[in-house]
Amino acid sequence: MISLLAFVTGSVAALLATGLVPGADASSASGPGCPQSCKRGAAYNNASTVSALRGATPATWAYSWSIFDNGVLPDGVEFVPMVWGPQTQDEWRLAIERALDTGSRHLLGFNEPDLSSQASLSPDDAARHYRQLLTPFSDQATLVSPAVTNGNGPALGLNWMQSFLRQCAGCNISALAVHWYGDTATDFKRYVTQALGLAGQYGLQSVWVTEFALNSDLRDQRSSPASEKFLQEVLPWLDAEAGVGRYAYFMCGEDYLVKGNGRTATGVVYTT
Ligand SMILES: *[C@@H]1O[C@H](CO)[C@@H](O)[C@H](O)[C@H]1NC(C)=O
Ligand SMILES: *[C@@H]1O[C@H](CO)[C@@H](O)[C@H](O)[C@H]1NC(C)=O
Repeated sequence: MISLLAFVTGSVAALLATGLVPGADASSASGPGCPQSCKRGAAYNNASTVSALRGATPATWAYSWSIFDNGVLPDGVEFVPMVWGPQTQDEWRLAIERALDTGSRHLLGFNEPDLSSQASLSPDDAARHYRQLLTPFSDQATLVSPAVTNGNGPALGLNWMQSFLRQCAGCNISALAVHWYGDTATDFKRYVTQALGLAGQYGLQSVWVTEFALNSDLRDQRSSPASEKFLQEVLPWLDAEAGVGRYAYFMCGEDYLVKGNGRTATGVVYTT
C-alpha cells in the first residue's frame, strides 16, 4: 500500500494551493488552527436540520445528494453539490455555477453507481459521463469521485471503483468517495483503510466517507446508544487519519443526528 500520509505531508504546499490538505479549506470558516473536526459534514435533505445540528464543533460542510442546497445553511458551512447521476436536471450546469460562485469548492460525483437502485452505472459509462459532466469544472473545484457502497463482489464497492479509476484517468479527480454500512468499528476502519490504499495507488490525495452508519441505525431508522459508542471510537480515528479528507455520518435528519430543532444524543457526540 502506498502511504497516503507520505504523499500528503510531502506536498503540503501544492495541496494547500488546491485546498486539498484535509480541513485546509474549512479553516477560514472555523478560524485559525482549524480543529480536526473540520472534516465533519452533514448529509441532509432538509437544510434546517443542519442548523439543528449546531454544536461546539459544528459541521463545516454539507451536501444534499443534489446540486441544490434546498434551503439556507448556517454561515460557515460549505455546500457541496452532488451530481447524483447522469440524468441531471436541465439546469444542472447553472446550479453548479451558482454554487461555485457562492463558495462551494468541491463537487461530488455519482451516488452509489454500483447499485441498480441508485445511480446504476458501469465503470465505463460512469467514466464517460464523469469526464463530460464533472471534469470541465476541475479548474474551479476539487473533484470527488462517485461514491461506492462497501458491497462485496466483482462489480461492487472498491472493485467497481478500481475499474472506474482505471477508465477515468485524466478525469482530474482528487478524492475518492466511499459509503459504509456495517456492524463494527473494526470493520469500518478496515474498509476505510482499504479505500485509502486504493486512493494511494491512483494518486488521489484523500478519501471522503460521505455516508456511514451502523446497520442497526438504518434498520431502526434512528440512531441509538450503539451509534454513540461507535462514533466515540471512530471519530478520533477519522480525524487522525491524514488521508481522510472529509466524512458525513448518516444522516443529518430527524431521529438520526437531529430531533426537531436540536440534536439527538448521537448528534451531540457527532458535534462535540
Ligand atoms: C486537469 O487539470 C489540469 C490542471 O488544473 C488542467 O490543466 C487540465 O486542463 C485539466 N484537464 C481537463 C481534461 O480538464
Ligand atoms: C426540517 O427540519 C427542521 C429542523 O429539524 C424541522 O423543524 C422541520 O419540521 C423540518 N421540515 C420538514 C418539512 O420536515
